[in-house]
Amino acid sequence: MHCLEGFGDLPMKHFYITTAIDYANGAPHIGHAYEKILTDAIARYKRQRGESVHFLTGLDEHGQKVQKSAIEQDIPPQELCDRMAVVYKELYAKLGISYDDYIRTTEERHKEVVRDLQQKLFDKGEIYLDEYKGYYSQRAEQFLQEKDKVDGKWPELFGEVTEITESNYFFTLKKYQSWLIEFLEENPDFVVPSFRQKQVLEFLKEELNELSISRPKSRLEWGIPLPFDEEYVTYVWFDALINYISAIGYGTEDFEEYWPVDYHVIGKDILVPAHAIYWLIMLKACDIPLPRHILVHGFWLKSGEKVSKSLGNVVNPLDYIEQFGPDPFRYFVLREMTVGQDADFSHERYMSRYSGELSNDLGNLLSRVLNMTQRYTEGIIPEATMEAEPEATLKKEYNHAAAKVIEAFDAFQFSVGLDALFTFFKAINRYAETRAPWKLAKSQAPEDRELLTTSLAYMAEGIRLGVLFLRPIMPEIVKKVEAHLAIPEELATLIIKETPVWEFKMTGREVGEKVILFPRPE
Ligand code: ME8
Ligand code: MG
Repeated sequence: MHCLEGFGDLPMKHFYITTAIDYANGAPHIGHAYEKILTDAIARYKRQRGESVHFLTGLDEHGQKVQKSAIEQDIPPQELCDRMAVVYKELYAKLGISYDDYIRTTEERHKEVVRDLQQKLFDKGEIYLDEYKGYYSQRAEQFLQEKDKVDGKWPELFGEVTEITESNYFFTLKKYQSWLIEFLEENPDFVVPSFRQKQVLEFLKEELNELSISRPKSRLEWGIPLPFDEEYVTYVWFDALINYISAIGYGTEDFEEYWPVDYHVIGKDILVPAHAIYWLIMLKACDIPLPRHILVHGFWLKSGEKVSKSLGNVVNPLDYIEQFGPDPFRYFVLREMTVGQDADFSHERYMSRYSGELSNDLGNLLSRVLNMTQRYTEGIIPEATMEAEPEATLKKEYNHAAAKVIEAFDAFQFSVGLDALFTFFKAINRYAETRAPWKLAKSQAPEDRELLTTSLAYMAEGIRLGVLFLRPIMPEIVKKVEAHLAIPEELATLIIKETPVWEFKMTGREVGEKVILFPRPE
């Protein structure tokens, strides 16, 4: 087993990954931050695995919600969007989100593609004018039917529901229903995790409604005008979903280098019907290949309730970033949430992971090794000249953990991978206690001296290899470790093809000053 230091043989097709684009009507919270951190960890890990990654995120700027917020704030909607774009981008910069492109749906490159697709579908007869009489929810921006009532009442999530009659343009969904069911049945891994795919199939058991893709300008001005009827603007979902292809130059030669997308990363509330029904059928109707996968994450809750703008129980990531820096927050959300499940945000759990795993298991370990290297071997990482049982055990622990981490990260199970990785950091700490170099330092015997130098070499190599796997998770912290432990660039940026080998790459390197990676909060 060995690592290939690969440049040169990059695959032709990029690994293309997207997030949901955030609504521009309100401030970001932990849910938005989590989704971008998750996608960022995947993107960074894939780069580390040697793939050429294209990571897209952005802002969803049209529609009723944004128009409403703009009116409330007494500013033009474009100005609200411009302000919110700054707020979101600043947060993502602070969190170290390494996106390659940020799309805003008010950009011309996006609007052009939306109009182009609409015209195509209209010409093919897939979009038609019809009169609609029925219920409408402004909050959900959705037409409703009797069957959407629960116990004879409209569920809270729809807000105020009114009866309206209006002419609108419709996109035919029904006609594709059996095709979609067949597609999902033939591709059981399409939605990850798979229990979410079952929910889609469950939804498809009932006949689909046709989708109204327009809103009369009299009711909504803030949207992309339909190319074939200027009296209407585009329904926000029929606009927003197209960002995934407009951003990569649909209609140009570049498009095929990226499409089909490898993963759309989204939250569970926008799988059905938006992504799994509307989007797949839109693509099919336009003869565009389907995505490879949709990765669906759960919700952050607080005391059991969904964290949301409307409930006002938001966890502001900025509070945590300001106090602890971005990386502990990144670590926490990835360690705490099982991808696909909901998780409860608790300050106590945050603090416990911060002072336990991060500060004790990793932070103190590094300080100790730097400190002892300064004191006992003049700051130079020594050679490993022997191997007894504790050394062999530590190596075994490494190999075991590394294999587990790779397997888990490959499946985007960061929580599982980080658990295995910190089990390894704990093992290095245990090894330090076993060898107790601080005791060996008091002895003049040559065999004690050999044990001392060897144990420092083992610890340094263990940290080097361990933090390699932390790069996608805590990029800033890892940079600090690399700087202080003097891990050279070519080792830090290893492309991981197979389990990186334990080979005492650090011998002879001069370490830097001691550092406190995770300071105690005031
Ligand atoms: O839905 N926990 O935007 P959005 C985890 N513009 N994730 C959460 C969450 C929570 N408490 N609350 C929201 C939209 N999210 C549309 C998307 S895509 C073409 C258009 C997730 O700002 C949510 O599931 O309401 C979604 O994936 C993302 O944050 C943006 O939500
Ligand atoms: Mg939402």
